[in-house]
Amino acid sequence: MQIQIFDNYSALSQQLAERILEIVKTNRDTVLCLAAGDTPKLAYRLIAEKAKAERIDFTKCTFIGLDEWVGIPPENEGSCHFFLNNNLFKPLSISSSQVHLFNALSGDLHAECRKMDAVISKTEGIDCMVVGIGMNGHIGFNEPGVSFDLTAHVIHLDDNTRAVGQKYFSEKTVLDKGITLGFQHLLLAKEARLIANGSKKAVILKKAIEEPMHSGVPASIMQSHSNGFIMIDKEAASLLQPATFSAKQKNGHDSKW
Ligand code: GLP
Repeated sequence: MQIQIFDNYSALSQQLAERILEIVKTNRDTVLCLAAGDTPKLAYRLIAEKAKAERIDFTKCTFIGLDEWVGIPPENEGSCHFFLNNNLFKPLSISSSQVHLFNALSGDLHAECRKMDAVISKTEGIDCMVVGIGMNGHIGFNEPGVSFDLTAHVIHLDDNTRAVGQKYFSEKTVLDKGITLGFQHLLLAKEARLIANGSKKAVILKKAIEEPMHSGVPASIMQSHSNGFIMIDKEAASLLQPATFSAKQKNGHDSKW
């Protein structure tokens, strides 16, 4: 795992966008799994702008959904589906045949999980996975206590996730379960990037990076990814010990400690 610390959110987003564009330019058949949420918003805007300006071809890419709120329809502005459509697929003119998202309204969520596992198995692997970190350390909806051995699964959301998740919805919404890729998918991704910004993420990031890997802080799984990157701004990195930071950082960009 490598840690990359940026001066601010804008620099982080710029670098993430550049990296995704570089991957797609190198391989038109790229398989991407890109998280929803507030953190990647700017990077996605930059990707769409640059792709248009530089005529970068996304027509052969495949997009895999990371997670979804169970029972929330795609038209709901708080759904991951809605977010990805608006922030990524529409701006990039991605066709629906390129996109595989969880159907969180399915009457058989278990089958939905196996379907997603099968979709991923049929690819040559996820080339790049971009994930955020929840305030409780979750990735996707891999909540504290989750087994690291899972593929796609359905999970009961913890209280913190239900409360924090309200920020995506315009009115109070019952959030009970999530459907998500599991850590086997993350570990097998050829490249994994965890992104976070702002001081509100500093405490959980310190745990994820400096504590030994454990399921109580699911994002600590990143420590065992052979090609994993933690991309954070200075505020999110503010509680990291300099010693940990210098031991784990390689190829950092704009990092000033
Ligand atoms: C959400 C989602 C994650 C997301 C994370 C961080 O609950 N399940 O996929 O990456 O929490 O979200 P944000 O970027 O809004 O802080």
